[in-house]
Amino acid sequence: MSQLYELSEVAQQNGKNGKPCWLIIKGNVYDVTKFLAEHPGGSDALLEYGGKDATKAFKKAGHSSDAEKDMKNYKIGEINSAEPIQIQPTSIAATKPVENTISGDPEPAKKSSSGFCCC
Ligand code: HEM
Repeated sequence: MSQLYELSEVAQQNGKNGKPCWLIIKGNVYDVTKFLAEHPGGSDALLEYGGKDATKAFKKAGHSSDAEKDMKNYKIGEINSAEPIQIQPTSIAATKPVENTISGDPEPAKKSSSGFCCC
């Protein structure tokens, strides 16, 4: 299984202040730090998207199938797209406990032999 990264993790690797330059393209994470100087489209094009999703820009640049193959060399993982599990408070917990609405003394138990079988 491929390494999963959070968006916030990728965002930190923006190529600035000596940090690595990571990009997201189609849900995959690429470390293009070593590719910056070699990129035919220039390093600025990559740095502009450092730490961000560059899917649209990548498509817009009309990359060749060779470029798509080349990408694999820089892939380091994928974006963890799983939504965090949201635990909603249940309505039961939010409602008041059911109170005993019977006011006054409960009716005393009827002591009657009728209907009572002792045999
Ligand atoms: C891992 C990511 C990338 C790889 C491996 C890559 C690779 C390449 C390659 C091999 C070329 C030469 C032309 C071709 O074969 O299509 C190219 C050109 C180009 N790339 Fe990228 N690229 C990447 C990301 C990006 C991004 C994010 C942009 C953002 C704008 C971009 C913009 C360009 C442009 C504008 C050209 C055309 C340069 C020209 O023809 O003058 N590339 N890229």
